[in-house]
Amino acid sequence: MPTYPPGVMSKADIVVGIQWGDEGKGRIVDLYAQEYDVVVRFGGGDNAGHQIKVRDTDIALRIVPSGVLNPHVELFIGGGTVISLAGLLDELDRLAAIGIDVSRVKVSDRAHIVFPYHGAADRASERARGSGAIGTTGRGIGPAYVDKVARSGITFADLRRPEALADKIRANLNRVASLDGEALPGEADLVAQTLDSAARLAPHVVDGVSYIHEKLERDKRVLIEGAQGSLLDVGYGTYPYVTSSHTIAGGACTGLGIGPTAVSRVIGVVKAYCTRVGAGPFPSELHDATGERLRAAGGEFGTVTGRPRRCGWFDAVAGRYAVRLNGLSALAVTKLDVLSGFERIGIVTDYRVKGKPVDFADAGAPDLQVIVEEMDGWTEAISEIRSIRDLPKAARRYIARIEELLSMPVELVSVGRERSQLAR
Ligand code: GDP
Ligand code: IMO
Ligand code: MG
Repeated sequence: MPTYPPGVMSKADIVVGIQWGDEGKGRIVDLYAQEYDVVVRFGGGDNAGHQIKVRDTDIALRIVPSGVLNPHVELFIGGGTVISLAGLLDELDRLAAIGIDVSRVKVSDRAHIVFPYHGAADRASERARGSGAIGTTGRGIGPAYVDKVARSGITFADLRRPEALADKIRANLNRVASLDGEALPGEADLVAQTLDSAARLAPHVVDGVSYIHEKLERDKRVLIEGAQGSLLDVGYGTYPYVTSSHTIAGGACTGLGIGPTAVSRVIGVVKAYCTRVGAGPFPSELHDATGERLRAAGGEFGTVTGRPRRCGWFDAVAGRYAVRLNGLSALAVTKLDVLSGFERIGIVTDYRVKGKPVDFADAGAPDLQVIVEEMDGWTEAISEIRSIRDLPKAARRYIARIEELLSMPVELVSVGRERSQLAR
């Protein structure tokens, strides 16, 4: 009998948001990245907005992984993403302008391109939905994934073959020729713009499968950064009020072309309360002055669109659901400092319909009732605290209650926007 070496090593860890996005994933990835060699994105596009602050540097990233402020880290945008060429070039230019080495940023040849006609189709489709609009970011993410699945998409690999590329762009433009109220670039202009961007991006494009596997095979430590949140997952979120990709941890495997055996830990990032931008079910939403107070205290306005985020209490039913979807190892709680000064803090512990307990699957039920448990708040500012043990007693109780309700340890509590503002 041949003897086999021990199985594939597990060197990749995943960070995902477990609510409706904007949990503070970028901030957590920036922090963890200090311990990794490569930070990678696996899905979504510039619908994401990940803010990170290190000392005086305060940046919002859309598609470049949030490890970028760690100079030793390599950065990779995987094949499961959809990328606007102009958006990526703009982001690279903005980063280069503040002295960041962007030659570290590599893009998988399998990633799909978001063209201006995708943005136009996204906005036209939202207008056509009228009051049933999803509230997308209008960046063409959905239509780009539709083209991918319909096998009409154009990938970064296509950028290497200008003749065939021009034919594909022409064919796609013909399909979307008439979109009410949207001005599209002419065919010749779009081909020329695309070829120009392709030339500028060429040094960044790599064979994405070889790239990631060579890192793993050389024992590099890989940190995988989720975008959006688990409750926006196209299959398991609050469909149809979701994004068009798999945002849960499983999406990291398909979005990078790696197997589950490559993954070790999955960290779930969770805001100490809940927010949602865009339409769709939000059982713990507060429509009153407390919701407005959360929005003001947390600065809850979209990074990408500037829209005010809907705000509500922490939802443990949604949290338990997301723990399952992602196979979490631990939680990182963000924005606990925002709750300082609230006399009472609510947690949604259960959902009921007609008095009967139901799970997150019924989050959109018209007669859903939520059970809210109230806990004592604390008055102290906590942004200077660096140990969970040193948090005010009521804040410690709140964290312990989250751990208990989600059956998941909290390994880190973020108490401010800056990298150093965290309690372990
Ligand atoms: P992401 O999309 O999950 O990366 O999150 P965003 O960056 O869109 O939104 C999170 C916002 O909260 C950003 O403005 C962060 O700078 C900010 N933030 C992150 N962690 C904390 C924290 O612990 N306290 C406070 N006050 N703000 C935080
Ligand atoms: P980050 O990575 C919050 C939401 C949109 C809309 C729905 C569909 O910063 O957490 P899309 O443009 O993706 O077709 O919009 O998904 N959405 C996000 N909400 N944070 C995000 O990303 C989001 N990305 C998409 O608001 O409700
Ligand atoms: Mg965001």
